[in-house]
Amino acid sequence: MPTPETLADLVTPALVVDLPALDRNIATMARFFADGPCRLRPHLKAHKTPAIAARQLAAGSCVGLTCATVAEAEAVASLTGDILVANEIIGDAKWGRLAALARELRVTTAVDSRRGVEGLAAAAEAAGSRVGVLVDLDVGQGRCGVRPGEQALSLARLIAATPALELRGVMGYEGHVQPMRERAAREAAALDAMQALVSTAELLQAAGLPCPVVSAGGTGTFDISGRVPGITEIQAGSYALMDTDYGAVGVPFVPAFFVLGTVVSRPALDRIVLDCGHKSSTKDHGHPVIEGVAGASVTAFNDEHAVVAVPLDCTIAIGDRLRLRPSHTDPTVNLHDVFYVAEGDRIVDVWPITARGYPEHRGFGL
Ligand SMILES: Cc1ncc(COP(=O)(O)O)c(C=O)c1O
Repeated sequence: MPTPETLADLVTPALVVDLPALDRNIATMARFFADGPCRLRPHLKAHKTPAIAARQLAAGSCVGLTCATVAEAEAVASLTGDILVANEIIGDAKWGRLAALARELRVTTAVDSRRGVEGLAAAAEAAGSRVGVLVDLDVGQGRCGVRPGEQALSLARLIAATPALELRGVMGYEGHVQPMRERAAREAAALDAMQALVSTAELLQAAGLPCPVVSAGGTGTFDISGRVPGITEIQAGSYALMDTDYGAVGVPFVPAFFVLGTVVSRPALDRIVLDCGHKSSTKDHGHPVIEGVAGASVTAFNDEHAVVAVPLDCTIAIGDRLRLRPSHTDPTVNLHDVFYVAEGDRIVDVWPITARGYPEHRGFGL
């Protein structure tokens, strides 16, 4: 297939990143963390794209990268000497891969169970590597994590007593706070969560345990949690691309990606149909927003179709192209193989979304 030169050349639906907007977001975040003491560890899960991670690292203020899976870590292992897998990794195959990676670079992961400690330690011993560990705390999200305080201390003691592992601190992702629209409510909830995290870090230190890393934060709380004394790094990811859900939160980042679609039908004056549905954009945080047509809104979403209500007098015709702004970055990006990189209407590059899906299942049966 010939390399597309402009947006008009793209086969739709196509995922497009707006390069100047992306770079602006990356620079805004890097500037915020430039003076420390807290630093940035951009999360790969939002874009799963090594080329974007490389730009984040090049912008400065970063201590390394955050990943959600071992496959993500493998995809960016050549870009940085320091990766945090901010998630519970369970299972022999994954422990083995993480331990192997730790032979090449500084690898840290989150743990919230004895099983997690023992499995990881066995893999590290077998690989002859040392894996760093953060005790994962549930600071209010109600997902993974031990309780702050004594429960965390007890797991930290176990990790510290395990030779193949290195206790490096604690993490507590305040995921429940990120989408809060009201700044005051977001601030109060984030500070509550950070209080639980920092006081647990102090508990570990008082017990003579090492706790150099205290990791938290996301796009909705980077400038709250990132200024709490004792928090050493922030794991924000969505800020680079920005979806419409985060757009409503009021953070200083601009929309930097869209799905390009084609109008395939206008069966009635008040309705158009685009060729992009569930296969090109998720709608778990709401339907995508249609750009450039005043009064247009998605009314139904199917596998291959977005049904859009339009004003009767709009001039959109079959074959026209429209931009959809998705409501949730991570799972939408996950649906695509590449980002088409645009400067205005020009396509200046194509970036593989290397860590999309489950890379370990690729190749079978081919
Ligand atoms: C553990 C963890 N840290 C950080 C993030 C990044 O947050 P955000 O996408 O709000 O920047 C996420 C996002 O889901 C996460 O699960």
